[in-house]
Amino acid sequence: MAVIELKDINVSFKQKDKTIVAVQNESLTVEKGDIYGIVGYSGAGKSTLVRTINLLQKPTQGSVKVNGVDMESLSEDELRDSRKKIGMIFQHFNLMDELTVFDNIAQPLKHSKLSKKDKHAKINHLLDLVGLADRSSNYPSQLSGGQKQRVAIARALANDPEILISDEATSALDPKTTVQILEILKHLNEELGLTIVLITHEMQAIKEIANKVAVMEDGRIIERGTLLEIFTNPQQQLTKDFINTATNRDEALVKVRELLATQPLSADERLVQINYVGNDTAQPLLSTIYADYGVTTNILYSNMEILTQTPVGLAIAVFKGEDQGINTAITSLIDHGVQVTELDPKEVN
Ligand SMILES: Nc1ncnc2c1ncn2[C@@H]1O[C@H](COP(=O)(O)OP(=O)(O)OP(=O)(O)O)[C@@H](O)[C@H]1O
Ligand SMILES: [Mg+2]
Repeated sequence: MAVIELKDINVSFKQKDKTIVAVQNESLTVEKGDIYGIVGYSGAGKSTLVRTINLLQKPTQGSVKVNGVDMESLSEDELRDSRKKIGMIFQHFNLMDELTVFDNIAQPLKHSKLSKKDKHAKINHLLDLVGLADRSSNYPSQLSGGQKQRVAIARALANDPEILISDEATSALDPKTTVQILEILKHLNEELGLTIVLITHEMQAIKEIANKVAVMEDGRIIERGTLLEIFTNPQQQLTKDFINTATNRDEALVKVRELLATQPLSADERLVQINYVGNDTAQPLLSTIYADYGVTTNILYSNMEILTQTPVGLAIAVFKGEDQGINTAITSLIDHGVQVTELDPKEVN
């Protein structure tokens, strides 16, 4: 079921002497239970597109439906109620410094009809959920960035939203804290059925928890698909760039280049990149190409990830053997569904 349906959305900002088109006629459908990652560089239009979901940003053109309801047809009161079902978290947490953790989380419940006792129980439950039960009387200034983001998550959940929008929520955090926050989001998605829209400029974050991905550039979604589709068969260069960073391929190639500078390949050696999907198909195949074609493999880098339950592997290796043997070996690997790309050892990128 589609929870969010953005259709032909255009967002333009009129300036004195020009018009900035932040989103150009884009559509996006998010299904219930999705963790939909939206990745792109700064200025791509990610926040603007996503802010149309609860009409924090009114689209210049196009329609916004949440649970089948046209958001622009709602009265002010109805829109306010509808917005409560869409929680948001941000890069800079946006907590109230003068309020305790407890009171920050209580903020969205100010006008709720819950009894005082029920409110307290609810806030304590939310504190438990984000692992901050022991910090309820602290002030934000007494917390780490990761803890502040946990408070922001608890606050975003106070009105039992069906949708959580995370706009660069992990961008100010270190890698370890980022993983912890992403794990909380994943847990909320699984336990509460929360639908999550995850804006980020790091494919790494998307790789951790998303099941779908859209890549944005210049106000357009230039590529979209399931996480597996995007990682195993990216079409656009920008998508490939993001993936190469997320799989550490870029970093590995720098090391390979350094290695090859001191130990150049001999005439019977060739540098290749191997990509495979599904159960570890590559490893046994590499032994057969030795048996069948006399080609030895020296793996310089290898990485395997489980993306939505499917193993996705990448290796950078040196094949050594006769030219004809290597050619036949590569063809044989490709026939078995393994992608093999020859890399220029001098210009490895
Ligand atoms: N209120 C506004 N008035 C004028 N221009 C705006 C406004 N909001 C956004 N823009 C412009 O729209 C474009 C898209 O901005 P947006 O904030 O959506 O990008 P983003 O992908 O979220 O970037 P970042 O990763 O830096 O957050 C930018 O060129 C930005 O300057
Ligand atoms: Mg943004």
